[in-house]
Amino acid sequence: MNNELQKIKEEVIDRIKKIRKEIDINNLETKYLGRKGELTKILRNLKNLGEEQKRQMGKLANQIKGEIKNQIEEKREEIIGRFSSKDIDVSLPGPKTEIGHLNPLTIVQNELEELFISMGFMILDGPELESDYYCFEALNIPKNHPARDMQDTFYIDKKNEEGEYDLVMRTHTSPVQVRAMQKYGAPFRGVVPGRAFRNEAVDACHEHSFFQIECLFIDENISVANLKAVVGEMLSKIFEKDVTIRIRPGFFPFVEPGLEVDMSCTICGGKGCSSCKNTGWLEMGGAGMVHPNVLRAGNIDPDKYSGFAFGFGWDRLAMMKFGIADIRLFQSNNLKFLSQF
Ligand code: DAH
Repeated sequence: MNNELQKIKEEVIDRIKKIRKEIDINNLETKYLGRKGELTKILRNLKNLGEEQKRQMGKLANQIKGEIKNQIEEKREEIIGRFSSKDIDVSLPGPKTEIGHLNPLTIVQNELEELFISMGFMILDGPELESDYYCFEALNIPKNHPARDMQDTFYIDKKNEEGEYDLVMRTHTSPVQVRAMQKYGAPFRGVVPGRAFRNEAVDACHEHSFFQIECLFIDENISVANLKAVVGEMLSKIFEKDVTIRIRPGFFPFVEPGLEVDMSCTICGGKGCSSCKNTGWLEMGGAGMVHPNVLRAGNIDPDKYSGFAFGFGWDRLAMMKFGIADIRLFQSNNLKFLSQF
């Protein structure tokens, strides 16, 4: 019996050395020390021995059992790391991982793109450093036209090949209209979410770099009714409720008729509050039926096709959606602000 015990001990210690996984150490523990384990069996058989032998063998068997237990425990700690499984409280919350947040502008952009794609629109991009031609001329705003004063332009201090100061930071996303028409022709449906720049004093409502979403829809027999429907879809999607739209005449050289689009105030529901200056309406942006000169600049026949366009402040949409009072926050890199979204 003595030999048998020594043999088991050597065998077990040899096996423990080779073990690399927690499951294997658990299995080994059951195999030798478990209720039906080999060592347990031997200990149980001790009762059949004589008094003296029982005492001696019992002592040895318990000593070996203790050694094996220690070895198993050591191995287990080596595998699991610093703590043995007894010390791990699996119900404790794990370490918190910091996750990033989307800028509210990106949230609105994603919603807008998803909606417009579902309505069959292309999502377009265009240069932020734009030529005078696309930013103004092609949009029916010739040089020296008083409409140029409507937008405070950042002119770039670099001459083009003809020796003219031709480059500007685009003052609106509208230049992509003519670029899109030239590239894709008619019929056409597209939106341009993009950045625009104006030489303006910055305050809670004005940024020198701000965001617009431009929409252009060209086909046969397009009318203001189509414009109203698409704008309504867009605003209802952003504000997650049916919104009422009002259209007023407005002037923009690239559309005829030019229109201003208002939306019933989402804050007071149209009753009148400080956000809507007690009018019940919020100004959303400019729109209109694309001017024939602009269609021609895009190589589209104005006798065959008509279209609507609008350009809305996309940062204003985000401000109204989330109740953000200061436009400067979007680009402030302020984590306290950003982590709210
Ligand atoms: N581009 C104009 C602006 O930034 C907004 C605008 C007005 C865009 C009318 C349009 C439009 O597409 O049809 O002030």
